[in-house]
Amino acid sequence: MTCWSCYPRTAVYVGTEGKRLAWAEMNLAQRKMHMRREILPRAAKLFRQWRPERFSTIDCRLCHGKGQQTDNFGMPTAHLPRLSGKLLLGPEFEKHPETTRLKLERLVPMMSEALGLRSFSIITRTGFGCYSCHLGPDGPKFGN
Ligand code: HEC
Ligand code: HEC
Repeated sequence: MTCWSCYPRTAVYVGTEGKRLAWAEMNLAQRKMHMRREILPRAAKLFRQWRPERFSTIDCRLCHGKGQQTDNFGMPTAHLPRLSGKLLLGPEFEKHPETTRLKLERLVPMMSEALGLRSFSIITRTGFGCYSCHLGPDGPKFGN
C-alpha cells in the first residue's frame, strides 16, 4: 500500500539493478536520467497544452538554460526571470495571472510529485515551489 502522506512519497528512480532511490539519494547521472524520463515528458505536455505555438518542443534548456552546455544544472537559476520574493505572489498574480495560476495549480504539484518532494507550504515556508526554479530579487529564497 502507498502511504501518500509519507515522504519521500515515491521511490522515484529505478536503476538498472532495480534499486529504488529517492531524489535526495540520486547521484548526478541518476538525476539526469530521472529528469529525462520523468520530468521532461510531463513538463513538455503541460507547457504544450498551455501554449502550443510557443512550447511545441521543449528540452532541458527550458528550465536550465545554458546549464546543459556547461553541465551545471543547479537550481534555482538566473536563466529564469526573477520573481518578487513575496510570499503570497501578489505582484506575480497582478502582472502575470495566467502563468502564475498554471504554475501554482499544475506545474508545482506535477514537479513535487515527480520528484517525491513536499510542495511549498506557506506555513513552514519550505518545500518545492516557485523558488525551486526562480530566484528572488536578491538571490535564492525560502531555503532554496
Ligand atoms: C520543467 C523544468 C525542468 C526541466 C524541463 C528539466 N529540469 Fe532538471 N531540474 C529542475 C528543477 C526544479 C531541479 C531542482 C530540483 C530540486 O532539487 O529541488 C532540477 C535539477 C536537475 C539536476 C540536479 C542538479 C543538482 O545540482 O543536483 C540535474 C542533473 C538536472 N536537473 C538535469 C536535467 C536534464 C538533463 C534535463 C533534460 C532532460 C532537465 N533537467 C530538464 C527542473 C527542470
Ligand atoms: C519547474 C520550474 C518552475 C517552477 C516551479 C515555476 N516556474 Fe515560473 N517559469 C518557469 C519557466 C521554464 C518559465 C519560462 C517559460 C514561461 O514563460 O512560462 C517561467 C516563467 C515564469 C513567469 C514569466 C515571467 C515573464 O517575465 O514572462 C512568471 C511570472 C513565473 N514563471 C512565475 C512563477 C510562479 C509564481 C511560480 C510558483 C507558483 C513559478 N513560476 C514556478 C519555470 C518554473
